[in-house]
Amino acid sequence: MSFTVSLERDKTHPSIAVITVDNPPVNAMSIGVPGAIIARLEEAQADREIAGVVLCAGGSGGFAGADIRVQGKAWPEDEPTLSEMVARLENSTLPVAALLRRNALGGGLEIGMACRYRVATPGTQLGQPEVKLGIPPGGGGTQRLPRLTGVQAALDMIVGGDPIDAKKGHDIGLIDALAASDDPVSEAAAYLASQVESGLRPPTRDRSVDGTDPTLFESARTVAARKQRGQLAPLACIDCVEASTTLPFDEGLKFERQKFGECVSSDQAAAMRHAFFAERQIGKVPGLAKNTPVRDINTVMVIGAGTMGSGIAMCFANAGIAVTLVERQQEALDRGLSRIAKTYAGMAEKVRLSSEEAQRRTSLVTGALSVTDGSDCDLVVEAVFEDMDVKKSVFSELASVMKPGAILATNTSYLDVDEIAASTGDRAGDVVGLHFFSPANIMKLMEIVRAERTELEVLASAIALGRKLGKIGIVVGVCNGFVGNRVYSTYVRETEFLLEEGATPSQVDGVLTEFGMAMGIFAVRDLAGLDIGWANRKATAHLRDPVKRYCKIGDTICENGWFGQKTGRGFYLYEEGSRTPKPDPDVDAIISKCAVEGGISQRQISNEEIVERAFDIMVNEGAKILEEGIALRASDIDLAMINGYGFPRWRGGPMCWAGTIGLGTVVARMRKLSETHDFWEPAPLLVRLAEEGKTFADWDRENA
Ligand code: 3HC
Ligand code: NAI
Repeated sequence: MSFTVSLERDKTHPSIAVITVDNPPVNAMSIGVPGAIIARLEEAQADREIAGVVLCAGGSGGFAGADIRVQGKAWPEDEPTLSEMVARLENSTLPVAALLRRNALGGGLEIGMACRYRVATPGTQLGQPEVKLGIPPGGGGTQRLPRLTGVQAALDMIVGGDPIDAKKGHDIGLIDALAASDDPVSEAAAYLASQVESGLRPPTRDRSVDGTDPTLFESARTVAARKQRGQLAPLACIDCVEASTTLPFDEGLKFERQKFGECVSSDQAAAMRHAFFAERQIGKVPGLAKNTPVRDINTVMVIGAGTMGSGIAMCFANAGIAVTLVERQQEALDRGLSRIAKTYAGMAEKVRLSSEEAQRRTSLVTGALSVTDGSDCDLVVEAVFEDMDVKKSVFSELASVMKPGAILATNTSYLDVDEIAASTGDRAGDVVGLHFFSPANIMKLMEIVRAERTELEVLASAIALGRKLGKIGIVVGVCNGFVGNRVYSTYVRETEFLLEEGATPSQVDGVLTEFGMAMGIFAVRDLAGLDIGWANRKATAHLRDPVKRYCKIGDTICENGWFGQKTGRGFYLYEEGSRTPKPDPDVDAIISKCAVEGGISQRQISNEEIVERAFDIMVNEGAKILEEGIALRASDIDLAMINGYGFPRWRGGPMCWAGTIGLGTVVARMRKLSETHDFWEPAPLLVRLAEEGKTFADWDRENA
């Protein structure tokens, strides 16, 4: 037992007892904790001198809710559950006030809502994030929150899952008082004592629900179907909140329990728990001690003000870091700076930022035409053309110009970071890859490419920087395309093969979006621009095995000058001013021609085959990447595909998804395909795990 739940009298208000829950690191309601809270409550109730109880969290100060590690597993029958504890708080003979500090999330907020009063310190994050774990709240949140805030605010918090701060909580009736002094416990005790004196109000369960307009639920369902496509939990959340308006409280609770039970044991919830814990692993690198010193990064130079450079500059400005943006020509620099100013102005227009904040961020980026202007920056991120000679000449200049200790990062998508580092001579230890994804100011993924000579301190600094920028920063090794682009390129190749064999772009895209991908592959390629991939294929043509199958559909489309949305044509046709993809008979003709030339007889392709081939191929490449040590964990590969390529989080990423299907099944499918198709030889690691009846999660555990 690593937790304590203590009971003591408040020093300034001795009639008020204080129950403090201390369960590091985040005061989750692990097995035993609810029972201990009930025990302390009973002790307080037995003491005639006590008039009320303040319940608060010790240690980190927050209440992170249910223990996610035990979700989906059996709870010991003789241990009270969170729901039972919550009911005891609400029905307590002594009034209980929750003091909420730092955060009260999920079950943490549900504890608060079952208490008679809620006092919060300013800035405390209040939320029902369960939907992000594939479940509706299960401790009465869907029944109590609408009673406190009204239906619309409850729907927003429960279905969206994003927290609000204590001030907003106070405004909407969730929080009764804000405690701003440096002794919030005594402040909460004083608040409760005053309520006891002036007369207690009824518990939350006895309140009625305001704002019960039934159309709210229908519009919430419509929005969820679009924004949280394919997910069960948002709909369950809406059903539960609706139940709070139609059923008596206890019946509503039962309904919520039933929905919670259905969801918590689902594959979707398991996948989302996997993603949650995967995110908490990302900074952990074997051999990198927790106390490795990190270099301060207060000023940054970004070289190249193109698509990526301007986006990267905004990432830093968003985090309040000053940026020197460098180009070779004034015109290109002006274009980059104006792109940044326009983006921030657009955000201010859409009220996503205040105009002062937009202005502040814009002014954090200043332009320059020489790297010497940024030579005293703590970090430089190079985002010039994807050309080894250009990159090398930039890095050799940086090596001589940058102040000692500056970190030298490249945003290359594919190139060999060891070779780039070598061009800096004795500064190779300062070099690291920081591979941002487009649009860099929006996409969460950042690959941190650890080159052979990258110093541990530089690596640790890059990981810390990723956190500061709010990125999912995954440490990867050097290879062509690192993790994300390497896995993705197999998916791109295989889906093009499917066209050649008889599928259409719209069929493939329809199946992929139905699977849960944010967009279909051909629509994505058209959006990103087909010319970039085409140039890369031409540049790397010499690396291709000439004996292996190669599909020319994408190349042929590009040869026509069709580069996707920006030219109005690509895999699809786009009408003037429209971004809606329309099937293009000319593309169908190109596909048929390529099939004939490739000696491939077209057939009806089933939707199942599309899913299997599109994603099994990702899994196989992922297995190779793991075997080669390019990724540290299968779960890192999952996070890369979720955060960089639109893979549905509720399927946990491709490696997790393969575990749901069963690796044996995946290997059997690959072996069958490999009889007639290139590239389907299953990776040895995949075969071994399948034979041992294991999953990639097992591999991660064994290699942690
Ligand atoms: N259960 C179990 N472990 C948890 C946990 C939880 N609810 N929340 C966090 N942890 C663990 C993390 O896995 C991590 O463990 P590690 O050190 O072994 O890797 C450790 O606590 C610290 O977590 P973070 O690195 O995330 O710490 P931060 O300080 O950055 O963030 C936090 C703290 C904001 C509380 C964040 O951890 C968080 O968002 N936690 C999840 C909150 C949540 O989703 N609660 C709802 C749970 S479901 C529920 O309550 C159901 C109910 O309705 C019945
Ligand atoms: P881009 O062509 O839009 O921008 C490159 C910019 O660098 C141009 O404005 C050019 O004038 C400038 N430049 C070239 N040499 C320079 C020098 N010596 N000094 C200063 N400026 C110089 O290219 P993009 O798309 O921004 O790509 C940049 C890098 O980012 C490439 O390595 C690319 O592989 C990588 N990348 C690109 C992604 C994308 O989706 N476009 C995604 C992730 C990485």
